[in-house]
Amino acid sequence: MGQPSGQAPERVRAAAARALKAEPLGYTLALGTDRLRQRIATHYATAYGVRVPAERICVTTGSSAGFLLSVLAAFGPGDRVAVAAPGYPAYRNILKALDIECVAVPVGVDSRWQLSVEVLARLEGRLDGVVVASPSNPTGSMLAAHEVAELATWCELHGIRLISDEIYHGITFGRPAATAAGMAAAEHAVIINSFSKYYAMTGWRLGWMVVPDDLARAVECLAQNLFISPPTLSQLAAEAVFDCIEELDARVAGYRRNRDILLNELPAAGFGRLAPSDGAFYLYADVSDLTSDSRELCARMLAEIGVAATPGVDFDPFEGARTLRFSYAGSEADMVEAARRLKAWRLR
Ligand SMILES: Cc1ncc(COP(=O)(O)O)c(C=O)c1O
Repeated sequence: MGQPSGQAPERVRAAAARALKAEPLGYTLALGTDRLRQRIATHYATAYGVRVPAERICVTTGSSAGFLLSVLAAFGPGDRVAVAAPGYPAYRNILKALDIECVAVPVGVDSRWQLSVEVLARLEGRLDGVVVASPSNPTGSMLAAHEVAELATWCELHGIRLISDEIYHGITFGRPAATAAGMAAAEHAVIINSFSKYYAMTGWRLGWMVVPDDLARAVECLAQNLFISPPTLSQLAAEAVFDCIEELDARVAGYRRNRDILLNELPAAGFGRLAPSDGAFYLYADVSDLTSDSRELCARMLAEIGVAATPGVDFDPFEGARTLRFSYAGSEADMVEAARRLKAWRLR
């Protein structure tokens, strides 16, 4: 549900087919192939107009491995790391598995579903790290460029490591998403990205990080020992994806149509209170007027009308029983049909 439904672009698959025939497909360097790292550095110049040296890029086995590597390199047991609630559940779980205290910070309408300096400054106790995601899963909300800069500056000032999850960049419906990469204030920040979402290469298990100088050697050693290298075939194929921007942007136009269908139809089905959905492919609904048990509501929705949504408890330990997440990464026809069923369900 949280993944593009189509295949990777044709050029990527053709590059993979060529590599299968011609390449030995052994290990690569732990940080990834020089060519892909260079290609990613060029992407920062063309997409954002910022200079990121290829040496600071670490190709990873999905952004999931990137998160694990950065957390292992940056923090130790007992450290305290703030994440937004609602937020991506694996953050909480990975931190917990590594004995790092996850400080789940409630965010909502008032803070536009994102962490802010104001919210963080009010927290009690020491903080060692902050994780932000823009666009966010599950809310789709985004940080403005000045908000990213403010967060980076505040973290730098207080010696707090910022991790910026930028894996939904490219899937935005208004202004483009701002990267922390290349920001002077974000000198010690870790930037995480992925080929899974905008680039539609979910199962190829490939992501990347922009690593700050002081963590570079630790990340390289950890990557070498934990993974040896990211998947070679995927790395060779991924070079081609940066030449598929037109095709990928057409998919984003499809997500936008799906989003518009649901924004038009969901209120009539009883789901009127939705987070902004500036990007990604999710709509996060406040269903407190329908239930105080979103897991039960989702189970019933699936059993009775065959529409799957994710209960908010996956994302939010505080308010999740009264929220749920719809994904519109599927086809337009599926969105139309889901909306039709949801409206009819309400009328029953
Ligand atoms: C916010 C966020 N970060 C990271 C990931 C991990 O993605 P991957 O490991 O495929 O790059 C996901 C997947 O849904 C996500 O939503």
